[in-house]
Amino acid sequence: DTRKGSQLNQPYQVDGVIVVSKAHPVSARYGPPDPAGPYGLNADANRALAKMTAAAKKAGVKIVVRSGYRSYATQKQVYNNALRNYPSVASAKRYNAPPGASEHQTGLGMDLWDGVTWSLPMANTATGKWLHKHCHEYGFILRYPSDQAKITGIPYEPWHFRYVGVDAAKGVVSTRTETLEEYLKE
Ligand code: DAL
Ligand code: ZN
Repeated sequence: DTRKGSQLNQPYQVDGVIVVSKAHPVSARYGPPDPAGPYGLNADANRALAKMTAAAKKAGVKIVVRSGYRSYATQKQVYNNALRNYPSVASAKRYNAPPGASEHQTGLGMDLWDGVTWSLPMANTATGKWLHKHCHEYGFILRYPSDQAKITGIPYEPWHFRYVGVDAAKGVVSTRTETLEEYLKE
């Protein structure tokens, strides 16, 4: 990643896949070029989410969006609130990307749940289990798997899904590369 100055107005990409993270931040000017739906998501991600939500519903599983697109300014508020309210500054910094480093700013990352059970127990809800099993069929990956913080920069977040498209999502699964970073070899 050699971007600097105004080049940070556009995200780092590997093989056409956008990567925004602590290692690959963007400036405050960047956002989804084509925001769609009530959560301001990337248009493709929004369409895939609608399809996935409908399929889950058929299986009796409820998917609720807790957080979709967040601007740089909103992420700054989220981050500063976390610094104030988490048990320690270190844990606030681990779980929350600083402004410019959040995938939520791309409209490709989103937090999903059943509307009831949040945080780590979300993984054991019907919604968590269904999503972890089926999300790749709709082009999503679990972006921050457990024990991969060294690679992703973020500890286990069973609720945070990233739209990468069906080919890349199935690629991550079939190559057993748990993280997007490893899959893209970046
Ligand atoms: N919690 C995720 C990593 C974020 O702040 O974007
Ligand atoms: Zn998230």
